[in-house]
Amino acid sequence: MWAFQWFVSPAARWAISRKILFAAVAVGVTATAARAQLGPPPQPAENPVTPAKVALGKALFWDEQLSSDNTVACGTCHRPARGGADARFVALPGPDGIAGTSDDMFGSPGVIRADAKNAYEPDPQHAFAPQVTGRNSPSFLHAAWADSLFWDGRAGTTFVDPQSGAVSIATGGALESQVVGPPVSSVEMAHAGRAWNEIVAKIEQSRPLVLATALPPDLVAALAADPTASTARPAASNSLSPIRAATRPIHAATPPAASPATVRS
Ligand code: HEC
Repeated sequence: MWAFQWFVSPAARWAISRKILFAAVAVGVTATAARAQLGPPPQPAENPVTPAKVALGKALFWDEQLSSDNTVACGTCHRPARGGADARFVALPGPDGIAGTSDDMFGSPGVIRADAKNAYEPDPQHAFAPQVTGRNSPSFLHAAWADSLFWDGRAGTTFVDPQSGAVSIATGGALESQVVGPPVSSVEMAHAGRAWNEIVAKIEQSRPLVLATALPPDLVAALAADPTASTARPAASNSLSPIRAATRPIHAATPPAASPATVRS
C-alpha cells in the first residue's frame, strides 16, 4: 500500500493539486521559458510547494489508477508533447445538434460510462465507447499562475475541501479548486457518484504507476532506481527517491498514523 496518510490528512489532503500542476509545469520546455519570464508560480500560504509534493504530483498526473476503471490519467488528456493540451479532437455535434457540420465541437475521450457501482452501462450518445468531454482540453502549462481555471473560470481562487466542505485556501487556490474536478467527473475519470473517500481508499491500495507506460524520463529513472516500489515503505533514511517521496507523507513534522505503510506483495 502507498503511504498516503498525508493524502487523508485534513491538513494536507488538498495538496495534491498544487503538486500535480507544478510537476506538470516542470515537464515542458515551454514551461521552463514561461517560468523564466514569469518568475516562480505563486503559492498559497496554506499549501506551500515541497519537493515531495512535486514528485508525488508527477506520479499521480501519469497514474491511470486515478480513474475509476484504470484507463485515464490526467496526462491522457493533457499531453506535454501537445503543449499541455490534447490532440485527439473528437468531434461532437455543435449547437445545431448535427454531427459533421461546421459548428461541431471537439473534446477529449474520458471513461466509458459507469453506474454508481462502477459497472459499465451504455451511454445514450457514446454507447460503450469512452465518453467525450463537452469542451476541449486546455493546456496545463500556464495553470500555476492563474487566479481561476477552466474555460468558464469556475475553479476559483478560494478552495473548498470537497470532503470536509471547509474553506482550506482563502485565496490563490485555483489549482486546488481545479484538480478536485476530474477524479469525480463521470465523463473524465469517474463512475457515477464517485466520492473522494473512495478515491483515497483506492490510492492507498495502489502501487504507484503500475499501469503506466511511456513514462517521462525522470519517472522512468526513479522507478529504475527503486524497481520493487518498496518506495511505499517509510524509510529510516532521509534520502528520498522521487517515487519514494511520492509515497511518503509529505509533512515531515506529521509522522504516519497508526498503520505503517507496507509494500503490496
Ligand atoms: C478526459 C480528459 C481530461 C482528463 C482526464 C483531465 N482533464 Fe484537465 N481538462 C480537460 C478539459 C476538457 C478541461 C476544460 C474543462 C472546462 O473548462 O470546463 C480541462 C481543464 C484543465 C485545467 C484548466 C486549464 C485552464 O487554463 O483553465 C487544468 C489545470 C487541468 N485540466 C488539469 C488536469 C489534471 C491535474 C487532471 C488530473 C487530475 C486532469 N486535468 C484530467 C480534460 C481532462
